[in-house]
Amino acid sequence: MDQSESVRIALIVGSTRPNRFADVPARWIENGVAGHTAIALETLDLRDWPLPFFDEPIPPSATGGVFANPTAERWRHKLAEFDGFIVVAAEYNHGPTAVLKNALDFALNEWKEKPIAFVGYGGVGGARAIEQLRMNAIELQMAPIKVAVHIGLEPFLGVLTQGKTLDDYPFLIASRTAMFDQLAWWARALANARAASAVVASISE
Ligand SMILES: Cc1cc2nc3c(=O)[nH]c(=O)nc-3n(C[C@H](O)[C@H](O)[C@H](O)COP(=O)(O)O)c2cc1C
Repeated sequence: MDQSESVRIALIVGSTRPNRFADVPARWIENGVAGHTAIALETLDLRDWPLPFFDEPIPPSATGGVFANPTAERWRHKLAEFDGFIVVAAEYNHGPTAVLKNALDFALNEWKEKPIAFVGYGGVGGARAIEQLRMNAIELQMAPIKVAVHIGLEPFLGVLTQGKTLDDYPFLIASRTAMFDQLAWWARALANARAASAVVASISE
């Protein structure tokens, strides 16, 4: 992948409940990425991916990452199109939403050796959920990046109750820019590394 090529990033919307706040940060990330030519963004809304609660008869590690459920198969093949991910992460009882963790479990190889970034919100900007998600990501052999966007209590309430938008908070815009930059760097570096190891594997076959 050369420098002129954009990295393909999926924006995963990690809450599916009616009246979710998740749409606010999701639209804000979509709008903000417009100025970042290094990133080609596509939104994957988990509402559009009706995965069951994990019910696979054989663990993915034992099937080579193939799933019995047809929606899961579609999901993992969709994930394969991307070089990295941004997750819009709500915090439920100091952890990630169940629907998001479930979606992580319903793929294996398609997460591997790709970066993942987080946009959290809530009382402490989703920090506790994001820390748990980073550990999940490491188990999936992903590279969770350092910079996250944390929409803490003040901007969260500002949007919900004072008619503000996330653009009213310069520190959020700064962290969004830093997140895009770091994510694009890792996505490009790891795409090149995956391509190089695929070449080595094909030569040694
Ligand atoms: C089941 C549940 C648990 C929650 N637990 C937390 C929490 O631990 N920390 C927090 O900051 N907010 C918590 N909240 C409040 C959420 O931050 C707030 O409802 C937010 O809008 C949820 O994201 P969503 O609207 O996109 O689903 C919780 C909300 C729900 C529904």
